[in-house]
Amino acid sequence: MVVLETAGAMLEASRRWRVEGRSIGLVPTMGALHAGHLSLVELARGENDIVVVSIFVNPIQFGPGEDFERYPRDVARDTGMLARAEVDAIYEPPVEVMYRHDSTTRVHVGAVAEPLEGEKRPGHFEGVATVVTKLFAAVEPDRAYFGQKDAQQVAVVKRLTCDLDLGVDVRVGPIVREPDGLALSSRNVYLDAAERKAALALSTALREAATVYASGERDPDRLQAVLEARLRTEPLVKVDYAEVVDPATFRKPGTLAVLAARVGKTRLIDNHDLTEPFPG
Ligand code: PAJ
Repeated sequence: MVVLETAGAMLEASRRWRVEGRSIGLVPTMGALHAGHLSLVELARGENDIVVVSIFVNPIQFGPGEDFERYPRDVARDTGMLARAEVDAIYEPPVEVMYRHDSTTRVHVGAVAEPLEGEKRPGHFEGVATVVTKLFAAVEPDRAYFGQKDAQQVAVVKRLTCDLDLGVDVRVGPIVREPDGLALSSRNVYLDAAERKAALALSTALREAATVYASGERDPDRLQAVLEARLRTEPLVKVDYAEVVDPATFRKPGTLAVLAARVGKTRLIDNHDLTEPFPG
């Protein structure tokens, strides 16, 4: 496994693999790896000759007052996990290499990036779209792997890849959950015991909405009310949004239930396609 720290070195390695006729899969991450990330690595392993994982805590996708400074970082642990997963390369540029002091270009995606996460986290998707564009340029992957956990991010990345003719096949992996239903997230380490218990309200709300949908309920307002009712039972949970939207536009109406809530100081998101039974 090689560790590359500049776009130039990354591109040189990638073009060498390309000349050798090897296909390349990229898994973009911010590190603090867990089984959700590793599930994407496994998907990539199954579909490509070479697997590249990028680790970069992207400052421009964090808003003021968000957790950029305290975001969990453990390069040694991440490197060990990726070596064991038989990853071929880690692309891990220092922040001043990724963003030169004089860089000003930003990728603005438009409508799909505006509601929900876009509204609650102004500038977030511009930061994501910019870094994903740069990662695609440095790695030139055949395929890139994203988790359904960040459903709106998937829609933003698909839109951008199509609109800018990036020629990367955007692949999506299912949400990996704890046995009790909580979606894995690097931010779960922030939760104390009481918050961890309260956080379960997110997945429980999605499970209940899926059950009500399966019993024939189609009224989006009533499905939304099911989500809200469950979240309201937990005093530690403060809802940012709970809606049932179209998975391509992230506007109502639709069948994708999307949630964002603060549990104590920690902001968590989760979602579920109500046309599918909730797992577990
Ligand atoms: P990060 O939060 O590290 O997540 C990296 C990838 O892992 C994302 O595609 C995310 O959706 C996926 N993922 C996270 N938790 C998951 C889970 N429980 N099950 C399945 N997949 C999961 O998302 C980002 O980083 C950044 O925004 C990034 C795309 C790297 C751009 O900076």
